[in-house]
Amino acid sequence: MKAITYLSLALLGAGAFAAPTYADPKADNEVMHEFFKKRFPNVEFAEFSNGVYAFDENAREQWLEIEDFPPYEDAVEHGQTLFETPFANGKSYADCFENGGLNIRQGYPKFDADSGQVVTLELAINECRTANGEEALPYGRGDIAAISAYMATTSAGEIINVVVPSDPKALAAYEAGKKLFYERRGQLNMACATCHVHSAGGQIRADILSPALGHTTHFPAYRFAVEDLVTIQHRYAGCNKQVRAKPFELQSEEYRNLEYYHAHMSNGLPVNGPGSRK
Ligand code: HEC
Repeated sequence: MKAITYLSLALLGAGAFAAPTYADPKADNEVMHEFFKKRFPNVEFAEFSNGVYAFDENAREQWLEIEDFPPYEDAVEHGQTLFETPFANGKSYADCFENGGLNIRQGYPKFDADSGQVVTLELAINECRTANGEEALPYGRGDIAAISAYMATTSAGEIINVVVPSDPKALAAYEAGKKLFYERRGQLNMACATCHVHSAGGQIRADILSPALGHTTHFPAYRFAVEDLVTIQHRYAGCNKQVRAKPFELQSEEYRNLEYYHAHMSNGLPVNGPGSRK
């Protein structure tokens, strides 16, 4: 309760979370980054990529042990094999992406001016498949998460730079994502921000709540609860269900816009996917 009051005051002071008349993604990030630096003064900025492991000593020790034999290793290898296997028409994923699909994760999601839509990496992977006569893969986990995770490893340590161009449609998509992030939903009437901004670092049942800053850096992530690699939107659906809200379809416009806002927030942090999490 105390933390929430503090936040409200901080935000009133900064004036940047009040409904803006126009989107200013850069100013949003400045306020968000400052907020988390104050909330976690002992956490170095780059460490936010590690979520709760950045400030929970016990969890960090367990995690470092686990990372000696990463639970996602086989899936990443499988993802590389899939990525490098040509389609029936002889083309491959490398033909669909700039730089052959390597070292590009840090720029996703991207805004596509032609379609006026946000393109996530997983959406682009499936668009590549269907453009080459292959069936789209189911979203959430499995092969699509493996391919995306392999692509993330080729960007290890690269600094995230999600761009919101000054195109009214791009700004509207960003704003829609931001709105979803702050909108209270479900029977429990909670927003993403309720748990991952206002209560970040606090405890909910057996879990310590991670800061939203740094959330997207390590996805797809291996979840012990699911015993599989999952995409970030699979996680969104899980969090929506936790507050008894109906999740959106994976890769719906709503979730793509949310991912756009959410990933942009982590600009300046290094890519470190896949991660491993509860
Ligand atoms: C009732 C509180 C609650 C709400 C509301 C909530 N989450 Fe979560 N979320 C959790 C808990 C608990 C976890 C697991 C512990 C952790 O990493 O924070 C989690 C985990 C996550 C993770 C994985 C963190 C990591 O480092 O791997 C992401 C990403 C995430 N939530 C995003 C969202 C988004 C986006 C929303 C809004 C659609 C949302 N959450 C709403 C409680 C919540």
